Amino acid sequence: MAATLPAFTPVEDSLFLTLCCRALDYRSPRPVLGDAMADEIVRTLDYDHASLHIDTNLRLNAALRAKKLDEVASRFLARHPDGVGVDLGAGLDTRVLRIDPPSTVDWYDVDLPAVAEARAGLVPEPANAHVVAADVTDPDWLSAVPADRPAVIVADGLLGFLALDQVGTLLNRLTSHFPSGEIAFNSYPKFAIWAIQHTPGTRSVADLIKFPGSDDPHDPERWDPALTLVREILIPREPEVALFPPLLRAYYRLSARSTAWARKGTVVLHYRF
Ligand SMILES: C[S@@+](CC[C@H](N)C(=O)[O-])C[C@H]1O[C@@H](n2cnc3c(N)ncnc32)[C@H](O)[C@@H]1O
Repeated sequence: MAATLPAFTPVEDSLFLTLCCRALDYRSPRPVLGDAMADEIVRTLDYDHASLHIDTNLRLNAALRAKKLDEVASRFLARHPDGVGVDLGAGLDTRVLRIDPPSTVDWYDVDLPAVAEARAGLVPEPANAHVVAADVTDPDWLSAVPADRPAVIVADGLLGFLALDQVGTLLNRLTSHFPSGEIAFNSYPKFAIWAIQHTPGTRSVADLIKFPGSDDPHDPERWDPALTLVREILIPREPEVALFPPLLRAYYRLSARSTAWARKGTVVLHYRF
């Protein structure tokens, strides 16, 4: 029987787009992420993913960017078993289950209160995972997170919903709160913002986007001088493109040759502080 969810706002509802992409990736013949729990949650909710018009390209990009963020978080926590992991705008993502950090790590999934409530009943979190019900633009939410341990912070699909000044303030709060760490998020080049607003698969979030787009991976270093770029991850250049169906694979391999072209797709930015 389908589980009952709290009433979601359109911004909260956006979690279904990424969750369903990962569930559909799991059901696909050649998964890039292989998140069985995402599929189980969608089935438990009996969610009508067809209503979202998710195409193959969107599904693959969402699954692959999640994988890249998983890699950043798991490598950091392997090097810092005393560390803290934070997933901003976590939705119903099962990242903590996918990366399975050491039991000495504390992991924090942060999202708006209705989502946090839904998460509690749907995502079987380990004992070292904690849900923070908060608006990340609220100045106080970080008081729930330890300030004396190195931290890795990821945000998957969040930034588009924040205005530029909110992103800068959030980055500043994070780098001031923790003694050191890494931050990674999928960024939105200007073309990606345009594409979100004009593609059927992202119609559900088109009117909710506040972020103006940024084409320069060094922009976040200007918004928060504590940040240093570690790597700009351009999805077309990642090895998992080999798993894409032939036409998309050919397109991405071609676009990988030009940085400007590759940046028109999904970009994951990784910084240290
Ligand atoms: C596209 S969904 C992505 C969810 C999740 N990261 C994933 O990959 O499935 C965006 C998420 O950001 C959350 N969100 C948006 N604005 C937020 C804010 N100001 N504070 C906390 N969460 C926010 C939404 O509730 C939603 O869960």
